Amino acid sequence: MAAPSGTMRAVQYDRYGGGAQRLKHAEVPVPSPSKGEVLIRMEATSINRVDWKFQKGVARPVMPRKFPFISGFDLAGEVVEVGAGVCEFKPGDKVIAINFPGGGGLAEYAVASASLTALRPPEVSAAQGACLPVAAVTALRALQTAGVSLDPDAARGGDGTGRRMNVLVTGASGGVGHFAVQLARLGGHNVTATCGARNLGLVRELGADEALDYGTPRAPRCEAPPGGGTTRWCTARRRRSRGPCSGRRSPPRAWSWTSRPGSWPAPPRSSRS
Ligand SMILES: NC(=O)c1ccc[n+]([C@@H]2O[C@H](COP(=O)([O-])OP(=O)(O)OC[C@H]3O[C@@H](n4cnc5c(N)ncnc54)[C@H](OP(=O)(O)O)[C@@H]3O)[C@@H](O)[C@H]2O)c1
Repeated sequence: MAAPSGTMRAVQYDRYGGGAQRLKHAEVPVPSPSKGEVLIRMEATSINRVDWKFQKGVARPVMPRKFPFISGFDLAGEVVEVGAGVCEFKPGDKVIAINFPGGGGLAEYAVASASLTALRPPEVSAAQGACLPVAAVTALRALQTAGVSLDPDAARGGDGTGRRMNVLVTGASGGVGHFAVQLARLGGHNVTATCGARNLGLVRELGADEALDYGTPRAPRCEAPPGGGTTRWCTARRRRSRGPCSGRRSPPRAWSWTSRPGSWPAPPRSSRS
């Protein structure tokens, strides 16, 4: 396929705020891949909460740095051109990528760093692939930060000592948490998950050994699984700090947010935040 030139269709906004009404269709130049980048003919992107937050202006003036801005940090499509120095991809490759904070997904073509691009296997559709990058990588990084091993060999032995880790995932039914549950489970660990009552079945289907409704008195008192083992927690709930957090300290006996205020998930509230 010849490398595209000229212009392409895109959806962009030119100032903070305004919501969906401020998104405009535009004809803009096709981007060129710089050194170390690939140019992707877009097949799918996903809208993440950060897309509308950035448009709203929560990160101004850092994000977006300049206008007009094309949203869409998750990219899925076909490589049509590679920049200098890129040898791991070639035109025709089906890929997924993150382009953060550059965005660009809501357009016919987008560029991404080759180092943040991965081949997409045929069994994963473009739409499925476009849901993965930001949310799943956030979950992956949270688990890695907490010291949860995802090595298939270690899976047999859990934490390498022959015992599975106990991983607590809060916000387990959310965009980040549902990936964290699956990844921890794939790592062979014992997963306890908290979510709303309506999502208990979903979270169990994703692989949680135990799913707890955060709105019930039982959740705050939930005991760590019997048998000891290292405990890790991964919370995909907004707390005082921003974004998902994770930790490697083992709570002494019970998983209780009352025992470690500020470090554990916020107590259940009667209404959603
Ligand atoms: N999504 C991303 O790609 C991404 C990337 C980086 C950082 N973050 C940050 O990560 C955090 C989670 O994002 P998300 O996209 O996963 O959010 P989300 O999809 O809205 O999920 C929120 C989770 O919190 C649960 N929850 C709601 N109210 C609760 C309460 N009162 N007590 C305990 N749990 C409650 C929800 O349970 P139910 O729905 O079952 O009630 C759900 O599991 C946010 O701070 C976000 O800014 C997200």
